[in-house]
Amino acid sequence: METMKTLLSRRSISKLAEPYPSKEEMENVYQAALRAPDHSWLRPWRFIEVVGDGRKKLGKAFIESTKKTEELDEERESKIAALPMRSPMIIVVIAKINHEKPNVPRLEQIQSTAAAAQNILIALHDLGYGAYWRTGKYSTERNEHISSELSLEKDDEVLGYLYVGTPEVEASKIPELDNKDFVTIWD
Ligand SMILES: Cc1cc2nc3c(=O)[nH]c(=O)nc-3n(C[C@H](O)[C@H](O)[C@H](O)COP(=O)(O)O)c2cc1C
Repeated sequence: METMKTLLSRRSISKLAEPYPSKEEMENVYQAALRAPDHSWLRPWRFIEVVGDGRKKLGKAFIESTKKTEELDEERESKIAALPMRSPMIIVVIAKINHEKPNVPRLEQIQSTAAAAQNILIALHDLGYGAYWRTGKYSTERNEHISSELSLEKDDEVLGYLYVGTPEVEASKIPELDNKDFVTIWD
């Protein structure tokens, strides 16, 4: 029942600091991600782990992708550059879409990758770390230039960024949800 405790207590934490998970801890976290359900074993999941100065590179990709469609003044640029500095580690979540499998549409590959991302959030929470899934304006759905700025291939889609670190704050209180608002039983 430990698993249920972890699932029921996960919250997104926006204020995150050092330390971030070790290499050994991340080995297990990625293994958990790779246990996501996956139609036809396409393995669409890809991740870029960004730490240290890698965050500056990520900020540059955010800026360059925005510049393709908008004029940026210095102030906006430095605001965008600061975005990846909000946590010591960021995991870029990517779905590598295989368009040659008509029985596994793009959406199913995206669903599988989202399930892998959720496994990462749960695994990190179980290890005592905090995480926050963000897209901002930098998912492929919202920014057609981000993939190339991240040096990804044509059919790689960015589903989001998992900001990771040690929680600096308690998660805010949220209202309890009632199953009956979400679940219909057929018997
Ligand atoms: C695909 C996806 C993208 C998201 N993008 C953002 C975002 O850009 N900014 C943000 O504040 N929250 C974003 N969220 C929501 C947070 O990750 C988080 O789920 C929300 O604040 C609710 O907190 P909880 O997970 O503790 O219930 C996103 C969630 C998902 C699933």
